[in-house]
Amino acid sequence: MKALAVLLLGWAALAMPGWAQVPAQPVDVLHWLTSASERRAANQLSAILAANGVQWRDAAIPGGGGMAAVKVLKSRVLMGDAPDVAQLIGTTLTEWADVGLVMPLNAVATRQRWAQTLFPTVMDLVSYNGMVIAAPLGIHRINTLLYNRRLFARVGLPPPTTWAEFELAVRKLSAQGIQPLAWSDEPWQVATVFEAVLLSDAGPALYRELIVQRRSSAWLDPRVERALTRLRWLRNTNGEPPREKPWTDATRELLAGKAAMLVMGDWAKGELIAWGASPGKDFGCVVLPGTENTHLYSIDTLAMLANGHHRDATQEKVAELVFNASTQLAYNRIKGSVPVQRDMDVASLDSCARDSWASFADPRTARVPSLAHRMAADESTKDAVAQTLWRYLTDPRMEPAEAQRRLAAVIRAPSNTP
Ligand code: GAL
Repeated sequence: MKALAVLLLGWAALAMPGWAQVPAQPVDVLHWLTSASERRAANQLSAILAANGVQWRDAAIPGGGGMAAVKVLKSRVLMGDAPDVAQLIGTTLTEWADVGLVMPLNAVATRQRWAQTLFPTVMDLVSYNGMVIAAPLGIHRINTLLYNRRLFARVGLPPPTTWAEFELAVRKLSAQGIQPLAWSDEPWQVATVFEAVLLSDAGPALYRELIVQRRSSAWLDPRVERALTRLRWLRNTNGEPPREKPWTDATRELLAGKAAMLVMGDWAKGELIAWGASPGKDFGCVVLPGTENTHLYSIDTLAMLANGHHRDATQEKVAELVFNASTQLAYNRIKGSVPVQRDMDVASLDSCARDSWASFADPRTARVPSLAHRMAADESTKDAVAQTLWRYLTDPRMEPAEAQRRLAAVIRAPSNTP
């Protein structure tokens, strides 16, 4: 009898239009938000959902850059156990949408006028074959140079705005026994630094040819050679033997004064803040030399997966709540990224975030997608590029020209034509 009542109640709830009447159902959320700031940002989301009757069942997979999370997701999907919500970003998103795994969010997007309010770059990223396939969380900036203000004050220098100033800073810091640059040899982190350096040396037009159009022959350009030479030089300013440390360890070195600079997406800034550091006091952030007026972005998104659990209304509610301006401000303040909407008062965000948001919004800015964070190429191309760069750095005998040839070979054009 009781079972029948529950069944009937469930049926009645399903029959009611709109999500407001749907009973609270937990949603299984797979993500890689596991560092201190990432965890707090995820908790902020889950609290907002809870206040709106949605229970977040956590499926966090540790590992920077989502390397492990993407693999776990793949195996869960293959086992017929797809989560309800997943941190799927960039091309991984479209790959899953292609096989019908991603639930379209067109109804929510129309209701909340996403096309009119999102930055066009963000709207494009979540649109695929006439469908809206994810809820955008925030925009990260990869061409970010974080520096320890105390160490720069000690050597009497402002943060570098040109490579000549950067080299001077390296010399002065090294002369005082200070590690100039925190470094990790994890392939995805090497790729993260490289793409920012590539943008600096190649400029946005060639960067697009290399990363977006993926023209193999463009990889033989002398400007790529310059970027590879600079990457090796940067790596060698850090005298440590090769070590693949988590990005949080490299960030910790910056805060502890063990290293003076860090080239990393602005999630590292979120992490510094989560540890109690203040931007403008303990650390500062500028763009990497040569990347002024450009925004190398990685946009985090949550996809709702079609998994036969009949949680569609709850999943739509998640998307709707993620998009809300108040969620955007609360989440991004912690995460280190910036809101995805054009009409937003970002005055309450820190100065790095305000700069990033203003730059992304400025029509004169060249916005270019991150390869290392899946905004431009499929998972295997991205991994092949990262591995090649890693090999180049760990094998001092490999000349930049050889690395260029290898990169030209692993880069696959979007159409898969040679
Ligand atoms: C990126 C992700 C960021 C941040 C970073 C380190 O792929 O977009 O939000 O989490 O990995 O884990």
